Formats: sequence, structure tokens, C-alpha cells
Amino acid sequence: MLNFNFYNPTRILFGAGKIAEISQFVPQDARVLVLYGGGSARSTGTLAEVLAALGERTVFEFGGIEPNPSYETLSRAVDMARAERIDYLLAVGGGSVLDGSKFVAAAVPFEGDTWSILEKRGSNITRALPMGAVLTLPATGSEMNSGGVVTRKATHAKLAFSSPLCFPQFSVLDPTKTYTLPPRQIANGLVDAFVHTMEQYLTYPVNGLAQDRFAEGLLQTLIELAPRAMQEGEPDYDNRANLMWTATLALNGLIGAGVPQDWATHMIGHELTALYGIDHARTLAIVLPQVMQARREAKREKLLQYAARVWQITEGSDDERIDAAIARTAQFFESVGIPTRLSAYQLGGEAVDAVVKALTEHGMVKLGEQRAITPEVSRAILEAAL
Ligand code: NZQ
Ligand code: ZN
Repeated sequence: MLNFNFYNPTRILFGAGKIAEISQFVPQDARVLVLYGGGSARSTGTLAEVLAALGERTVFEFGGIEPNPSYETLSRAVDMARAERIDYLLAVGGGSVLDGSKFVAAAVPFEGDTWSILEKRGSNITRALPMGAVLTLPATGSEMNSGGVVTRKATHAKLAFSSPLCFPQFSVLDPTKTYTLPPRQIANGLVDAFVHTMEQYLTYPVNGLAQDRFAEGLLQTLIELAPRAMQEGEPDYDNRANLMWTATLALNGLIGAGVPQDWATHMIGHELTALYGIDHARTLAIVLPQVMQARREAKREKLLQYAARVWQITEGSDDERIDAAIARTAQFFESVGIPTRLSAYQLGGEAVDAVVKALTEHGMVKLGEQRAITPEVSRAILEAAL
């Protein structure tokens, strides 16, 4: 096992009705900025519930944080927070609102050009406002990690940042708040959580026995949940509760501690979102199967372990079992209605050129756990996904 520092200070308030408890964790005299997205928080009543829980505190609102939150919009929130002397942030929404709020938390006390927070991937964050979160979309794990992803619309740059100062102090995970999600977002959440697990699992063995079994358990849980969550008719509390907690566990640092991590699929996927607006999880479904294929030699041992333990594929030669495991992975994404080909988005060779160029511009030239995914390898991965 590799050396690691594990730190996760986020308090989780899990279950129906838990929004009422946030009052215990936001200081009574705080000047609170509640941040939310394009309107779902308001129309579903979640925002009203949050405001009621905040009681008599001084509260300001900032709505309109878009999916794949933009630096441009977030900069307006930073201006507002500075003008109103905000000292506590409360994010109400999905990963985009949470990520955007983390950026605002770091940017408000930042001296100098706040874009440099993204350029330096968060390493220059020295202070941040405290924040809490109310999650309405299980997918990203942002509710219990210290990272975020922000897009500069003007330049189509989608960059990730992280800092130990950006963990939410608390996150409310109330499964009933996901009942209003359209099936497309449930599917996105299943696939995003699946790929987060794979990025930390499908590398090379380092004898992280518990990490491997934990990751395999999360993958199997998502596979079991997928048909239930996609065909449930009326929302089912237990399905939603399991999806919510599984997605959180997939990216709260635990399964990634002490093991190599890949993240090439995410870095390539971010460029697809920045250039073509494809939902985050949908980009991952295009890229991951081809990363598995392109890196099958370096990932051979873990691919065979994945085939046997996650999909119970035990027949055939090593290469046949690896082929079958990659095929099952793509079928899983397709089974929840998420395509695995660029052609499904009417994208061809010109998109491959554009993504490779963007990766190069953003310094994404040695991706993966072995740092072996050069722009040429990324090109081969994308060409195989046409
Ligand atoms: O904007 P509103 O009106 O709120 O609507 C949102 C949005 O249109 C809607 N929605 C959210 N909760 C809802 C709801 N609609 C009905 N009922 C509800 N309860 O869902 C749409 C998508 O929301 P968004 O927050 O964009 O989705 P998601 O949670 O998938 O977040 C995606 C973002 O997270 C980043 C992605 O890159 C992307 O920008 N990621 C963040 C990570 C992290 N912080 O660790 C890791 C991930 O890999 C990912 O990169
Ligand atoms: Zn993701």
C-alpha cells in the first residue's frame, strides 16, 4: 500500500427531514449567502425549507449557478459576497452549485486575480469562507470532498481545483430531495459515481485489500441499483438513499487513500464538456471504455480482478475476459440510456483534433496512474470512441 494522509472533516446529516438541523451548524450571527442553481431548488421547495431552517439569521441569495458552473457567473457571486460582508456560504443544489460555492469560498478572501486559483489548481488558496451544503443530486461526491471544477466560458477552459480549506463543514443528504430529478440526472449520477470508483480502482495492484473490496462493493451496488433507480415509477426512498450514500462514498477520499489513481477519463471528459456542452457523466461513458482498451496491458491485473469480482467473468483466456469486462462496462452505461460513442453527439474527427489540442494547452499531456497518456494516446482513445 502507498503512504497517505487521510483527512475528511465534513459532517454528514443523512436522512429525510435533516435540513431542519442545519441551524445547529451555522453560527447564529452569520451573514449567510445561500447559493443555488437555475431554479430547481426554488421550484421544488428545498430552498424555502433551507431558508426556514436558517431562521432569523441575515440571509442573502445568489441564484443562477449553471451546470458546469462558469467563472463569469461565480465572479458575480464573489462581488456580492464581498459587498455584503458575507461570512458563511450555504450551497443548495447539485455538484455544480457545490463546486461553484467552493470556488466562491476561496475567491472572496483571495488577493489578486481569482482565475489564478484555477490555473494553480487551488494550491494558492490560503483562506476560504466556511461553507455548508444541501445536496439535491447524488453524483459528484462534492458534498464530502475538497474539490471543484469551474469553466471559463470565454476560453472554454474547464479546470479542477482543490484545497483542504474547501471541504464543506457539513452536508445534508436528504434522499427525498432527489425525488424531483429527471431520469437523465439519475443516470448521470449512477455513471459519474461508477467512473469515480473506477478511476481509483482500475490501476495496478498495490495490495490495498480493503480499498479494492470497498471499491468493488460500490461498483456492485451501483450495478444492482441501476435498473431499480431507472424503472422505479414512484420514487423509492431506499433506492435514493442507497444511490446518495454510494455516490458520496465513491469520492470522499476513502477508497483512493493509499492506492494509485488514474483520472485520465475525467481530464479528457472535461474537455468534451467545455467544448461541446455534453453532460459530465456522459463524457465519461464515452471515454472510459476506450481508456480501459488502450491501457489494457498496464492495467491487466486489475482488469482481470475487475472482470472476476465485479462481473463474475471467469471463463475464457485472459484477453477474452478483459474484452468481456470492457464490453460489460459499456453495456452498463448504455443500459441507463447513456451512449458510449462520440457519434451519438454528431461528433467526428474534428472533435478529436479539438480535444487533443485543448488537453495540450491545459498541460494534460501525461495523464493516468503511469503518466503514460500523452496527447497521442488521448488521440487514439478518442478515435476509438468515434
Ligand atoms: O440548476 P438547477 O435548476 O438546480 O437544475 C439542476 C441542473 O440543471 C438539476 N437538478 C439538481 N438537483 C435537482 C435538479 N433538478 C430537479 N430536482 C433536483 N433535486 O440537475 C441539473 C444538473 O445539475 P449539476 O449540479 O450540474 O449536476 P452534477 O451534480 O452532476 O454536477 C456536475 C458538475 O460537477 C463536476 C462536473 O465537472 C460538473 O461541472 N464534478 C465535480 C466533482 C467534485 N467536486 O468532486 C467531481 C466530478 O467528477 C465532476 O467533475
Ligand atoms: Zn465525475
